[in-house]
Amino acid sequence: MSFRTIIEPFRIKSVDALKFTRRDEREAALDAAGRNVFLLHADDVLVDLLTDSGTGAMSAAQWGALMQGDESYAGSRSFYRFRDAVQALTGFTHIIPTHQGRAAERILFHTILAPGQIVPNNNHFDTTRANIEVEGAEALDLVIPEGRIPATPHPFKGNIDLPALERLLESHRDRVPLVMVTVTNNSGGGQPVSLENLRAVRALCNRYQKPFFLDACRFAENAYFIKLREPGQANRTPREIAQEMFSLADGCTMSAKKDGLANIGGFLAMNDDAWAERARNLLILTEGFPTYGGLAGYDLEAIARGLEEVVEEPYLRYRIRSTAYLGEKLTAGGVPIIQPPGGHAIYIDARALLPHIPPLEYPGIALVNALYVEAGIRAAEIGTVMFGRHPDGTESPAAMDLVRLAIPRRVYTQSHIDYVAEAVLHVASLGRSLRGYRITASAAVLRHFTAQFERVL
Ligand code: F0G
Repeated sequence: MSFRTIIEPFRIKSVDALKFTRRDEREAALDAAGRNVFLLHADDVLVDLLTDSGTGAMSAAQWGALMQGDESYAGSRSFYRFRDAVQALTGFTHIIPTHQGRAAERILFHTILAPGQIVPNNNHFDTTRANIEVEGAEALDLVIPEGRIPATPHPFKGNIDLPALERLLESHRDRVPLVMVTVTNNSGGGQPVSLENLRAVRALCNRYQKPFFLDACRFAENAYFIKLREPGQANRTPREIAQEMFSLADGCTMSAKKDGLANIGGFLAMNDDAWAERARNLLILTEGFPTYGGLAGYDLEAIARGLEEVVEEPYLRYRIRSTAYLGEKLTAGGVPIIQPPGGHAIYIDARALLPHIPPLEYPGIALVNALYVEAGIRAAEIGTVMFGRHPDGTESPAAMDLVRLAIPRRVYTQSHIDYVAEAVLHVASLGRSLRGYRITASAAVLRHFTAQFERVL
């Protein structure tokens, strides 16, 4: 069969009705939320592209697996199933379940970091950065130069800048406790990292005797991009590629809310016995006993099954293609996005789309709020509100002001995506009538979740 249409590789057996609202109702809802879409009631959102995290639809097989959950406090059968699934994929010795990715980050960094140390990454995600900074260490972003320019296409725009990493290891060897790489690079546009780049990081880590950890949240999407784009990889399965990615590292942090295809969960995995022992001790303090780590037995079952489904080729083909489909529609309509489209999301370059709004008046928030008011779509700012404030309290423009349209896994159909594309093009046509914002109240860390905004007139 050689039909061109790539269809959703599933049929729907349970539906969740959407609520349609009027424009004036959305204006009122956003006002009540301090003009911060994080504070909306989700029922007032029509198409929710805030995040792809924990928002996916589980398969019938996963729902069935929930009934197999063993809720024993210690040594539960579900833990062993989970451990075996993670080990078969990653090859790591120690598998430590956590309630989500940031718990794995907190435990890893609290276990190994000391004030003044530096953790390099292609781009740290916000929780990763925050969990490093809270230990008094520095989170350093070393993505390749192409990764910082939204309009420049590159097949592996998430690659880490190897010469820059080498210079860091040479000049500050004693201050770097580990090297991290995020696959795919969420903060840089959901862009993949090549096997070649991961192999070179491994070689540098060997030379400088540093552990190498993956932030593996979207490992399967990354593996599929490698299959599509990296010379010599086309005939391997996504699972084989993913296994090689993990084999190059000494450990990983993982949010199973992304490529675990689960609604909650995560893990920390590693080969080092001493680090693992300390991590487990901390786990007991905050997450729970090492065979459940903050999760129910049925969550462990859902993740074990999800890790198998996520590397299936029909799923990944549809997943990567449906994100690209949205990107192509926006590009055809003249909306500047990070090129090429990422795996889990389309990132609109709000700074380029709304050049009349200066970065410190948050063009990303202007776009996010207009998308909600005009069309009931919820997106997320990844820009100056998220990254512009520094630990010393000062503020400067982030490297980019992006708006992310994150696509939940297996949730929306092509017509939802057509609607989103039409709505974005409409909002883009409003141009100069969109105004910037100022912050009227904000928390000390991770301010984007709770900040209150007011429109600049
Ligand atoms: N690392 C990356 C690259 C992430 O994208 C996330 C979460 C985390 C770590 C933390 O995982 O949420 O399970 O604690 N990203 C979500 C997002 C929240 O919307 O991109 P978590």
